Amino acid sequence: MNILITGGAGFIGSNLVRWMLQKHPDNLIVNVDKLTYAGNLENLEDCEQLPNYRFVRGDIADGGLIKSVFQEYRFDVVINCAAESHVDRSIVGSSEFARTNIVGTNVLLELAKEFSLKKFVQVSTDEVYGSLGATGKFTENTPIHPNSPYSASKAAADFLALSYHHTFGIPVVVTRCSNNYGPFQFPEKLIPLMIANAMQDKKLPVYGDGLNVRDWIHVEDHCEAIDTVAQRGKEGELYNVGGNSERANIDVVKLVLRYLGKPESLISFVRDRLGHDRRYAIDSSKIQRDLGWKPRRVFEHGLEETVKWYVSNSGWWKRIISGEYQEYYKKMYEER
Ligand code: NAD
Ligand code: DAU
Repeated sequence: MNILITGGAGFIGSNLVRWMLQKHPDNLIVNVDKLTYAGNLENLEDCEQLPNYRFVRGDIADGGLIKSVFQEYRFDVVINCAAESHVDRSIVGSSEFARTNIVGTNVLLELAKEFSLKKFVQVSTDEVYGSLGATGKFTENTPIHPNSPYSASKAAADFLALSYHHTFGIPVVVTRCSNNYGPFQFPEKLIPLMIANAMQDKKLPVYGDGLNVRDWIHVEDHCEAIDTVAQRGKEGELYNVGGNSERANIDVVKLVLRYLGKPESLISFVRDRLGHDRRYAIDSSKIQRDLGWKPRRVFEHGLEETVKWYVSNSGWWKRIISGEYQEYYKKMYEER
């Protein structure tokens, strides 16, 4: 099969490309990525030479270019991971979020209509459900109530994707996953930012009272869920994906410090994020029951392993912080 993974140079995308290349060596994986600030070809350095991997630099909102990629590869499956993904950036400015997350998804769906596919997986987020109180979990029937420009753009994309199933019969499946952690996460997100700051003895900025809760899942568990849904997900359905690991931010930050042997005095409580969602928790019983997927990692083990990865790969995040990574991929791209 020919599989298109969009956003494959980002955090989840690059882990997914590697996962798919390892698990399904007979498939051709084509990674289309615009290489925004969040895209980093260094994430896939070990996959570059594989015969069943191709990289195309491209914007999913550029209909002409994406059509030419569809014409060349005649995809069986499309997995749309490309997105503007950082909530804080969407609060500063949301136009790129609307363009990539909504217009880009629309371009892919229009092409899915023109070229027949076996599956179109829209990789979405639990943030479309909004915020929970102290109890309860998000199920697939929880009403959509996005609170940030980021989550609103993702919710719009979900609705578009599902409408293309209902109206045109496109084999769309939507996954809604909770907070991922693991290797190659851009150091603007909570866990890699805290690791990088602590390693440099910089302050760790915890928003508000630090008691906001996220449900953490290792990125490889998420990749396995996406792979499972791409193979066996029922068309027109939504699947929640979660790690069963609700933790308050402050507890996550303290664990990072403990694993690094750094003092809690590095923690600095700062002004809260605007519109900050209080709590997310995912009920993933549907995908477990219907498709047989379950998360494998225990959060504390996965986090300790992840901290070790950032310690052993400090060059990776230091090249991002210095801006050198963009020179690196530009040079690599120009050499092609
Ligand atoms: P990321 O920001 O690390 O990576 C996004 C990738 O998309 C980058 O490589 C970037 O260059 C690429 N991209 C951005 N705009 C593009 C465009 N117009 N055309 C082509 N490529 C473009 O994001 P991530 O954390 O890996 O998230 C991937 C997907 O998973 C997103 O759709 C996000 O909403 C979703 N998601 C993320 C999480 C999480 O915890 N990180 C959880 C649930 C769902
Ligand atoms: O729930 C899934 C979502 O998880 C994905 O859809 C998003 O793409 C992804 O970015 C993530 O969103 P969050 O906003 O939950 O992740 P972030 O890492 O930005 O923040 C996690 C929590 O930590 C959140 O409550 C805000 C807080 N935080 C974050 C940063 C960057 C801090 O306290 N300090 C920080 O410096």
